Amino acid sequence: MIIVLDFGGQYNQLIARRVRECNVYCEVHSYNLSLDKIKEMKPEGIIFTGGPNSVYAKESPLCPKEIFELGIPILGICYGSQLTAHVLGGRVATAPVSEYGKTEVAVDTKSRLFSGVSANTICWMSHTDYIEKAPEGFTITATTPVCPVAAMECPSKNIYAVQFHPEVLHTQEGMKMLSNFVLDICACKADWKMDAFVENAIKELREKIGDGKVLCALSGGVDSSVAAVLLSKAIGKQLTCVFVDHGLLRKNEGDEVEAVFGEAGSYDLNFIRVNASERFYDKLKGIEEPEQKRKIIGEEFIRVFEEEAKKIGAVDYLVQGTIYPDVIESGLGKSAVIKSHHNVGGLPDCVEFKEIIEPLRLLFKDEVRKAGLELGIPEYLVFRQPFPGPGLGVRIIGEVTAEKVRMVQEADYIFREEIAAAGWDKQVNQYFAALSNMRSVGVMGDERTYDYAVVLRAVTTTDFMTAEYAELPWELIGKITSRIVNEVKGVNRVLYDCTGKPPATIEME
Ligand code: XMP
Repeated sequence: MIIVLDFGGQYNQLIARRVRECNVYCEVHSYNLSLDKIKEMKPEGIIFTGGPNSVYAKESPLCPKEIFELGIPILGICYGSQLTAHVLGGRVATAPVSEYGKTEVAVDTKSRLFSGVSANTICWMSHTDYIEKAPEGFTITATTPVCPVAAMECPSKNIYAVQFHPEVLHTQEGMKMLSNFVLDICACKADWKMDAFVENAIKELREKIGDGKVLCALSGGVDSSVAAVLLSKAIGKQLTCVFVDHGLLRKNEGDEVEAVFGEAGSYDLNFIRVNASERFYDKLKGIEEPEQKRKIIGEEFIRVFEEEAKKIGAVDYLVQGTIYPDVIESGLGKSAVIKSHHNVGGLPDCVEFKEIIEPLRLLFKDEVRKAGLELGIPEYLVFRQPFPGPGLGVRIIGEVTAEKVRMVQEADYIFREEIAAAGWDKQVNQYFAALSNMRSVGVMGDERTYDYAVVLRAVTTTDFMTAEYAELPWELIGKITSRIVNEVKGVNRVLYDCTGKPPATIEME
């Protein structure tokens, strides 16, 4: 095991994730984890993270000098490297010029940390202080024109420090450096896999919950599905999953979710499907403004969920599929509230829970997917593209009606079918059909039509904060267009959205 000691940096979980990518178990702990606890945990290595402070600031998190005497290899990153220098008698100062972003660093490839790394390598820097003088007994192993000590080490004590961030992708050979530390310097065996996470999580959940009752709002999306299955493996029938079908799901989606989690599925949980489409359509009648639609859908979701929770009665825990990016977005410690707003429009106020359980809060999306596969969840569920909480409600411009939902469901189904058949589903990150509010004149079978226009949207993106439209082949767009106008009643035109984000957003509303 590797322990990451958190000094308040932004990338702490990313460091843990990179260690796990080396197939080595890793935990993040607060910087003030006691020496006794560290000795008890017997890690093979310790990584100090970055942090926003200067080692000289009054409130800065420090570490005891004795940590360097435990005989456990240590890697200090950014603030962690300055801290190492400071505590061991080196000198830290404000750099004459701050370094931010990609920086060429000259490294000593004879260092075990930089074995196999190019002599001049691009690294990600983000600092205002730097190490001016390394402590006695340390060798300088990397420099930049600004930074006299971009890396330093004391190999006899297995202490290493780097000013840059090896964990971010912009550091082109960062993964090599981290794996050198973890697998060579710390001599960890690369034998940890996601099955160990799953096994551990199940054990811990069993211990925590005992014979308590647990409720989960299951949307059928990746995160809540993985959380639900994990809980079901841990506590079986003590878990109840409520799946609210708001009538704004994709074609067949409600039945697909039920087939996996319901009576006929392979999980031992109490699955409740609430078919509430009429309620939602009623509430949405005449409403055109997107924010108002979102609010109504979120509110109604809570009301339905609340009613079901009351029927079950005396629930001890609520499960949420919060994952690490949600935690970052909402600020540490506040994740539960933000995520619930994002996903289910807020937690029911009048249903009392002892606690919220978030078993995936330390995992990244692709790790959640791996855990899902480990748990035996079908691939088509594990690799689903994102789908917004308000569903097709934000893919129908203007008023939502059952008839419009039908059109968009049919068109979207054809689009997804053809994209998959052409092998484009692996190359675009999100794609869907939406229904514009535009009706226009067409001609079909010598008859005049006055029907709706469907908009096809396909984007490539890594973080969904920015996106580019996918350059699908015209031939494919043509094929999809003719299928949609032929097969979907009420549609006589198909448009392809060539806007990026910004200035547009991914969803239409
Ligand atoms: P936008 O439309 O903001 O979408 O570019 C970015 C990503 O977020 C998803 N999205 C939502 N997800 N509730 C959700 O759970 C929402 O209200 C919502 N709006 C957008 C969208 O599908 C895309 O992946």
